[in-house]
Amino acid sequence: MARSGSAVQKEEKKTVVIAIANHKGGVGKTTTCINLADNLAQMGKLVCVVDMDPQANASQHIGMSHPAEINYTTAELLTNPELPLTYFVHDETRIDGVALIYGSMALDNADDALRMEPRPNEVLRDRLQPLLGKADYIIIDCPPSLRLLTSNALAAATHLLIPVESGSPYGLYGLADLTKRVQQITRINPTLINLGALLIRHDDRQLVCQNIEQKAMGLFGKLVPVKIGTTTKINQSSTVQTSLRMFDSTNKVAKQYKELAKYIDNETAA
Ligand SMILES: Nc1ncnc2c1ncn2[C@@H]1O[C@H](COP(=O)(O)OP(=O)(O)OP(=O)(O)O)[C@@H](O)[C@H]1O
Ligand SMILES: [Mg+2]
Repeated sequence: MARSGSAVQKEEKKTVVIAIANHKGGVGKTTTCINLADNLAQMGKLVCVVDMDPQANASQHIGMSHPAEINYTTAELLTNPELPLTYFVHDETRIDGVALIYGSMALDNADDALRMEPRPNEVLRDRLQPLLGKADYIIIDCPPSLRLLTSNALAAATHLLIPVESGSPYGLYGLADLTKRVQQITRINPTLINLGALLIRHDDRQLVCQNIEQKAMGLFGKLVPVKIGTTTKINQSSTVQTSLRMFDSTNKVAKQYKELAKYIDNETAA
């Protein structure tokens, strides 16, 4: 696959590290991670996706191999500090310009191992250090939990993006816990910037979406102005392991993810 460059070989630059987090399951974290990464890469950015979810959906989506076949995944990254980061970064993925550190089921055990560390929340931050100044963007796909894997992502991040399911009346249920965790993490990562809530499956005409939009603003203090609608093509694109843009660049949601990438690149430029 023709690539724009290696995420681990380019010269020093400012690296934006975005944690995509929400402990609610199935809200669009992985979809946002992949499609944001793809569109940033289209803008010429060097992007590395870090899969922190034991379900390894992002890895299954864009990896050239099945995560079960990969020896060095985020699980080993977190538990074997002696292994160099270069072992873990796969420059070749199904999306041009996007590198990947695979996730795997073993992450479930890594969560337990992290508990034994002197600074259990800060292991990922230390391990990703060599990538800082090399990649333009590191995008961390978090699991649907608020345990140590997510805390590590929040501690390693410069920015936080919170996908929220707009089309569900329960889209914000329990999310005060996420804001509480973010506040706790700012003690060890005081410069973490909240990009805000990103409304997913949003439809301005629906009352439920209008309601969630209003409440999300209250809860998270900030909304991403780009909103993501609903399309069945998201499922279809992940089935064939491509981004939505590669599957159908004319799709309305594909265009919204392109807008999102532009917005985020602008927001994080300072
Ligand atoms: N905008 C959308 N329109 C239609 N379907 C979507 C949209 N975004 C995500 N989906 C679908 O919803 C499901 C859940 O999305 P996704 O896997 O991105 O959520 P997640 O938050 O990463 O889930 P988990 O918490 O399990 O990791 C997937 O089948 C995905 O294809
Ligand atoms: Mg996911």
